[in-house]
Amino acid sequence: MMKHSIAVLPGDGIGNEVVPAALEVLHTLADLHGGVKFETTSFPWNCDYYLEHGKMMPDDGLSILKDFEAIFLGAIGDPSKVPDHVSLWGLLIKIRREFEQVINVRPAKLMQGIQSPLTSPKDFDLIVVRENSEGEYSEIGGRIFRGDDEIAIQNNIFSRRGVERAMRYAFQLAQKRRNHVTSATKSNGIVYTMPFWDEVFQQVKTEYPDVQTSSYHIDALAAFFVQRPQVFDVIVASNLFGDILTDIGAAIMGSIGVAPAANINLNGKYPSMFEPVHGSAPDICGRGIANPIGQIWTLKMMLDHLGLDELGSVLLDAIEGVTNDGIKTPDVGGKASTQEVVEGIIARLR
Ligand code: NAI
Ligand code: MG
Repeated sequence: MMKHSIAVLPGDGIGNEVVPAALEVLHTLADLHGGVKFETTSFPWNCDYYLEHGKMMPDDGLSILKDFEAIFLGAIGDPSKVPDHVSLWGLLIKIRREFEQVINVRPAKLMQGIQSPLTSPKDFDLIVVRENSEGEYSEIGGRIFRGDDEIAIQNNIFSRRGVERAMRYAFQLAQKRRNHVTSATKSNGIVYTMPFWDEVFQQVKTEYPDVQTSSYHIDALAAFFVQRPQVFDVIVASNLFGDILTDIGAAIMGSIGVAPAANINLNGKYPSMFEPVHGSAPDICGRGIANPIGQIWTLKMMLDHLGLDELGSVLLDAIEGVTNDGIKTPDVGGKASTQEVVEGIIARLR
């Protein structure tokens, strides 16, 4: 019997609706499979915890989480209780940074039964691998003078180590998929870091001769995501470019409520963290209509990461079976509740 220890952080708002829903699915999968068990431990660290304790998690929070194999997170943030920058930096960003989760992975695909806003959507199925630790989001730079003389400088950081590991991750992922990697660049306008990015891409690609490659400037690539997303398999991008592309990816799927994500630690020193793209959705919280698919697809990403790819594929098939049957929450044009979608998925798994 393989046991996996998972730390669960439902967080705020609909996190407390979609995370328990996803755990029901997880335990069903384990029951059906037989050879695997998930030991889930839930931690109540969220904005209510902050109101009581003056912090988002206990001082030894990170050392508690460190020993788990993976972290499964809902959403953090409730601006009616705690300012967003306090809740975000007090928990989510702390985990991503301290646990060296240097890659952010976000798939997007046309889901059966869910309408894409694209007018003639083709059958796209892509994954963006976003460098998650450096690039444009650096803390190096500064501001000087005020008024008409004011100057702001923000430095981009691209290290060979950081770029290579993101690219290698993308190539290895492509080898498990359709063997194609696209690089998001802008070496025509950004004359130091992006030519460096291109050079590293050319070097890394020689390590994976079986994988086809292409390279586009980010502006054109953003347009292609809308015009012909079906041509892409894996896309590797810097922190900023990846951030923008993944929002387009979520948008063309039809709802932020279905989009999954993973923050991956590559050196094995700390756990990776799996969380949907959406936030705590205070506007629909408590009504039982939150779409659980983003959280459940996130679960599939966690299963893949734990080496349980077969369970992951079975789960994705069950999700699409249910959307194809029209059992859908209101954000994707249906009338079903969170619980009805979950029951549909569980019924299909059984
Ligand atoms: P949001 O993603 O929570 O909501 C945006 C819109 O999408 C809302 O209309 C919401 O009802 C809808 N929506 C989101 N998830 C849905 C789902 N599963 N099913 C159906 N509809 C869904 O973003 P918003 O409103 O900007 O942020 C709310 C709070 O969440 C803030 O405190 C924000 O900081 C936090 N947040 C946290 C994130 C995280 O934990 N990673 C990510 C994004 C926002
Ligand atoms: Mg974003």
